[in-house]
Amino acid sequence: MQGSFCYYNPTKIYFGQGVLLKLEQEIAQYGKKVLLVYGKGSIKRMGLYDQVVGILQQAGKRIIECSNVMPNPTRAKLREGIALAKEHHIDWILAVGGGSVCDYAKALSVGVHYEGNVWDDFFLDQSKQPAHPIVPLGCLLTMAGTGSEMNGGSVITDRNVHRKIGRVFGPEVFPRFSFIDPAWMMSLPLYQVRAGIFDTMSHLCEQYFSGTDDNVSDYMNEGLMRALVACSRKIMLQPDNMRARSNFVWTATCALNTLVGLGKTQDWMVHMIGQSIGAYTNATHGMTLSAVSLPYYERILPNAVEKFARWARVVWDVASQGKTRLRQAQEGLQAFARWMNEIEVVTDITSLGVQSADLQGIAQGTFLLNGGYKQWTHEEILSLLEKAR
Ligand code: NZQ
Ligand code: ZN
Repeated sequence: MQGSFCYYNPTKIYFGQGVLLKLEQEIAQYGKKVLLVYGKGSIKRMGLYDQVVGILQQAGKRIIECSNVMPNPTRAKLREGIALAKEHHIDWILAVGGGSVCDYAKALSVGVHYEGNVWDDFFLDQSKQPAHPIVPLGCLLTMAGTGSEMNGGSVITDRNVHRKIGRVFGPEVFPRFSFIDPAWMMSLPLYQVRAGIFDTMSHLCEQYFSGTDDNVSDYMNEGLMRALVACSRKIMLQPDNMRARSNFVWTATCALNTLVGLGKTQDWMVHMIGQSIGAYTNATHGMTLSAVSLPYYERILPNAVEKFARWARVVWDVASQGKTRLRQAQEGLQAFARWMNEIEVVTDITSLGVQSADLQGIAQGTFLLNGGYKQWTHEEILSLLEKAR
């Protein structure tokens, strides 16, 4: 291991079927006025909304509602939510939904006691740290994949200027608690489940494909990848298999609760490209990643043959005997492609609504990071996008 780190993850997790029974006890310590944040109505259709409101009322809380948070939440919606939260002097936030609702609620928690512009100061400017009080946040997660329930990430989109920007805040913005009941996720359309599975794999790959040091984080990461491949295959055969669904959900949380990224460099370029696609198309996050991943990893493989060969052997069970490292690496990538086919994720950007006229803007709008095995230019991103059409 090369890097040094300070690790502190303050999110208390309640995991498993029936965990909602513990909510009333958990929220006793938070104030009277709660901002209940949720999406476009799935929580009402599955009956969770009524249960949560009942528990909040039973606990003597006053509820202010912030609903209709859209997938890939926008800057305009953030402005609206901050104004509402300020007007009602809320004490804390309860987010009930997927990554979009959790991310949005984090940005709100930063904005409630802030007089400046949250987008300008904490998203456009990535260096400024919040030095003002952050409103406590709790999450009830209804879709797995992003890891937002146990990290400081918040991704907001400004549709007017085609910018989708993620900010990774410190522990003060992590949810104080998250309830994760896999049963809540059984109402998800399979398209979203597939997207969440791929999002999880992508988070693991982004942290794995970087660095050359022998690092315990990579060994843990490989375990999570194997778990994900195993449970995703079961889910494809039996979508209602609760054990497989539970395994997936916890894998997704562990994949981006920052543990497997400790003490190492990380890549994150697939996410940068995916976010730029999302800024132009509003496509489902996980699918923006699957659409560019194969050409991306094909391109960086020659720069990291050892790591790809290890990935092939350990994660994809590629036999090594009599094969060069390069051949092992290539077979690993082929196994990855077959798995993507099995879980039926999108593998081209045209299906996501990308138009020829958008390509230049998507390439230029992609943030270039330098933690991975290749330093990309905007021109190279453009040719990758051409390949992914
Ligand atoms: O709006 P509702 O009605 O809730 O419907 C949602 C939405 O349409 C629906 N849904 C959620 N739970 C459901 C359900 N439908 C039926 N039954 C349920 N139990 O699913 C749709 C997608 O939800 P969304 O929250 O948008 O999906 P996801 O969890 O994938 O979140 C995506 C957002 O998270 C960001 C993405 O960029 C994107 O904006 N990310 C956040 C990260 C983080 N915080 O660390 C990292 C990720 O890489 C990602 O960038
Ligand atoms: Zn992601």
